[in-house]
Amino acid sequence: MRGPVSAGITGRRTGGPARTTGLLGLWDLPCVAASARTARGHVRARLREETFHGDLDTVSLLVSELVTNSVRYSESGLAARPGTVSVVLARDARFAEIDVIDAGSRWSTPTVLHLPLGAERGRGLRLVREFSASWGVVIDASGCCVWFRVPWDG
Ligand SMILES: Nc1ncnc2c1ncn2[C@@H]1O[C@H](COP(=O)(O)OP(=O)(O)O)[C@@H](O)[C@H]1O
Ligand SMILES: [Mg+2]
Repeated sequence: MRGPVSAGITGRRTGGPARTTGLLGLWDLPCVAASARTARGHVRARLREETFHGDLDTVSLLVSELVTNSVRYSESGLAARPGTVSVVLARDARFAEIDVIDAGSRWSTPTVLHLPLGAERGRGLRLVREFSASWGVVIDASGCCVWFRVPWDG
């Protein structure tokens, strides 16, 4: 998938939030495990520069979970031939929004799992649901975008 950001804020279709106005950053990263760390570093640094007053640790955690999911489950994350995971950071007057975009998967879609407490897996999207103001998934022919918003002022 080239121009994966087209699935995100700039070209959001049904299922996305209202358009977010200010694009703060866009990073195309190799869809490998190490990019979770890279992504959270970029997002943190940019939010700091922009004097974000929300919870940076929460944003970092959620970015990591989503990038890790792209690596594990999307076709961008195929170990033999990693593609791209794109991270978009944007804001409007009230919220910071992060979009994590991959090439999608024939086998799975992002789904909140309802596993017993203490299960080894199934926490990532629950954390996103719990700690974001809103979130969602947009899937189209060009790929899969999982987005979330957190209050800009905490
Ligand atoms: N980017 C993605 N592409 C395809 N499927 C995904 C993606 N992210 C999550 N999923 C699906 O949603 C499920 C739940 O994700 P998550 O809550 O992070 O739990 P876990 O990663 O521990 O399984 C995953 O097991 C996977 O099947
Ligand atoms: Mg996960």
